[in-house]
This record gives sequence, structure tokens and C-alpha cells, in this order.
Amino acid sequence: MAADPRGKAETLALRRRLLSDSCRLFYPEDPIKIVRGQGQYLYDEQGAEYLDCINNVAHVGHCHPLVVQAAHGQNQVLNTNSRYLHDNIVDYAQRLSETLPQKLCVFYFLNSGSEANDLALRLARQYTGHWDVVVLDHAYHGHLSSLIDISPYKFRDLDGQKEWVHVAPLPDTYRGLYREDHPNPAGAYAGEVKRVVNSVQEKGRKIAAFFVESLPSVAGQVIPPAGYFPEVAEHIHRAGGLFVADEIQVGFGRVGKHFWAFQLQGEDFVPDIVTMGKSIGNGHPVACVATTQAVARAFEATGVEYFNTFGGSPVSCAVGLAVLHVLEKEQLQAHAASVGSVLMELLRQQKAKHPIIGDVRGIGLFIGVDLIKDEATREPATEEANYMVSRLKENYILLSTDGPWRNVLKFKPPMCFSVDNARHVVAKMDTILTDMEEKVRSCETLRLQP
Ligand SMILES: Cc1ncc(COP(=O)(O)O)c(C=O)c1O
Repeated sequence: MAADPRGKAETLALRRRLLSDSCRLFYPEDPIKIVRGQGQYLYDEQGAEYLDCINNVAHVGHCHPLVVQAAHGQNQVLNTNSRYLHDNIVDYAQRLSETLPQKLCVFYFLNSGSEANDLALRLARQYTGHWDVVVLDHAYHGHLSSLIDISPYKFRDLDGQKEWVHVAPLPDTYRGLYREDHPNPAGAYAGEVKRVVNSVQEKGRKIAAFFVESLPSVAGQVIPPAGYFPEVAEHIHRAGGLFVADEIQVGFGRVGKHFWAFQLQGEDFVPDIVTMGKSIGNGHPVACVATTQAVARAFEATGVEYFNTFGGSPVSCAVGLAVLHVLEKEQLQAHAASVGSVLMELLRQQKAKHPIIGDVRGIGLFIGVDLIKDEATREPATEEANYMVSRLKENYILLSTDGPWRNVLKFKPPMCFSVDNARHVVAKMDTILTDMEEKVRSCETLRLQP
């Protein structure tokens, strides 16, 4: 067991005194004190082991020894900024370029997903000479002022929508405008973006970029219909704007079938800018923007230096290289595909058994389970989802909710998550759901037979 010189209650009291309440805790009614992590497991101060189903930042596993060693080894030799020549930064850019379509061949290194998206916005504005942005409803792209402005998930609770921000409907075929019974949901949702673009232009405004998470996560683990991005890109390009794919949560092999989630949209589809974060550094603050020569040249033409004190440091690049090395060595992309398909199948069996499960959607180790109160209306079962999360915690399983109604259970575990882990969590969910069906009144309104 790891040493815990200070008791949990004292840590909580100090935190309440010294940190802002805006910095929230998981399970606020009974937070967990985590002192150690390994693989897909986290350990509290008593030594209890929790199965982590949500931490997509610890991409190749908490404290992966090769990533830790890479950081430690480089820290012992040199850590400085990117104004000196160093092999790590060029090796890393080279390795990343091997994962991407050829066109995306210029790299900027930064420290967080928010920094990456903020730079993407600057690049798009500089290249196009336009200012406005189109985003999807319920999206989140980061915590900087510029990104809160393009994150409906946040700005709806603040001072609202800026005149330069335009919101298109979420391409959600379970709850959205066009559903699974629509003959061409990709075309229909792309048509909605076209409608937004037209109305922006009618006001005499000009679009710099369309920002989209390749798989909208905070919006409820949504899988956009294939073919949607290429059609949207056509509308955006015709308006002179750029297509920005935010891969901060979903990149680096998570979807199994491909290395990048935008590749699910068609083998030939290439965004103008890709932003990366979170999993890229397995917990170390690393982020990256990849773009085309043309976009980079336009940014250079200002003559203004892009300098980021820590971005692309020898240590950050050593960590990034180690993450790519582990992904390849342990074949984690293929692993995500096979474990993800077992987990999907087990969850689908649960859907057939428990009417509270309205939808199971996902790909690789990115999966959402949409809980409903009523099959016909698909009314979100928010309290039931919260109940499930707290019951799972009692069973030492960490899972959380997402989506506008926080009724979608989200799976995005470290990529070393195993088939046994999948069986274990689904068996616990089955027990809890069976119990809930007896106890929770709202379940009485659900159809009783699948
Ligand atoms: C899709 C997406 N983009 C951007 C960000 C911002 O990343 P960071 O918190 O590293 O600044 C997040 C963070 O949750 C995210 O989920």
C-alpha cells in the first residue's frame, strides 16, 4: 500500500479551504483519494483497487513504465525550450507525420488541448482572413476565453452566444433531428451546416472555420454518420473556411479501426487542421496542432514568431515518442478494436435485457450507453444514470456520465482495458440494473419485455 501521511478527511478540508469550488471533484458527496495508478487501475489511500473506465488521458495505462522512464531519462540530461536544435522534436514530428495523411505535414507543439484549439483558431483566421466559427451544439473545445466562446456546452450557462459563433445541430442519429430511420442522415445533417453557412453569409459575415470533435464526446458519446464530414467540409470550403478536427479525446488509435477518428468518415477525408491533446502525453502536458503547408505559410507571413515556453521541449517530445512506441509495441489500436467489440456486444445484450438502456453506440474503446425513462419519447434517465455511477463506485468501478442531460454512461478507458475488465463491469451493471428495475419507480413506465 502507498504511504498516506495525511488522512483523507484532512486532505478534503485543506482542499475546500485552499482551492476554488469551481474545481470540482468526482463523487463530491464522498470523493476518492487516489495515491497510485497502474495500467487500468487506480488505488486509494487504503490500497483499494478501482477499475478505471474513463481516463482516456492515461492512454497506454497509468504510469506506463516506458513513458515514465522516457521522461525521467530525458529530464536527467536536458529540458529546455524549442529554440535550440534538438533531435527529439524532429523525430517526434516525423513519427506523428507517419500516422497522418501526407497533407498534414507541419506541426506545432503545445501544452494542452485548449492551447491547441486556440492556435487552430488563430491559424484559421490568419489563413482565411475571416473571423466567424461554426460549431456543433453541446460541443466543448477548451477552457480558454476564445474556446469557451465556441463551446455551447459552456457558453449556454454563461453570457451566451457571441455574434461570430454559429451553432449547427449535433449529428446524433439517436436523439437528434434526423434519426436511425432517416435514409441519409449524413446528407441531412450536412445540409443543416449548409443552412447555417448560408444564414451567416446573408448577414455579410465570413466563416474562418468549422470546429468539430471527430466523435462528439461531452455531447453524449455521439457517432456522426459516415460521410458527414466530407460533405460539411465542402460547404465550409465553399464559404472560404477551414475544417478543424479536434482529436483531443478520441485520437491515437482509440477507435481501433483507424489511428485517427476523423478517418471513420471516409478513407480520403482530410481535415485542414487536426488538434491533439490529453492521450498524446499519457498524463504529461503535451499537445499538438498539425496542418498543411499552405496554412502554416499564411501564419508565417505575419512575421510574428510563435513561441511556447514548454511546448515541444525535449522531455515532452520524449514522452510523446514513448507513447507512440508503446502503442505500436503493445498493438493497442488492434487491442482497442477487439476489446471494444466484445464490450459493445456485452452491452447490447444488456440492452435486450434492460429496457432502461435506449441505445448502445460506439467504436473501439469509445462507447456510450444512453439511459432512457421511456422507449417512445427517449426521455433521458438522468437520475438513474447518476445512481448507476454511484453504485458502480461502491463496486470499485469508475465510470461517469456525459451528454446534455448527463444520462449517457461513457466508456473511454486506458487502452490496456481487457476483455476480463469488460466482462466484470458489464456483470456489475447487470446486477445494478436488475436491482433498479425493482426499486426505481420511473422504470415501471418502461416496457417490461424486450
Ligand atoms: C474535445 C476537447 N477539446 C479540448 C479540450 C481541452 O483540453 P485541455 O483540458 O487539455 O485544455 C478538452 C478537454 O476536456 C476536450 O474534451
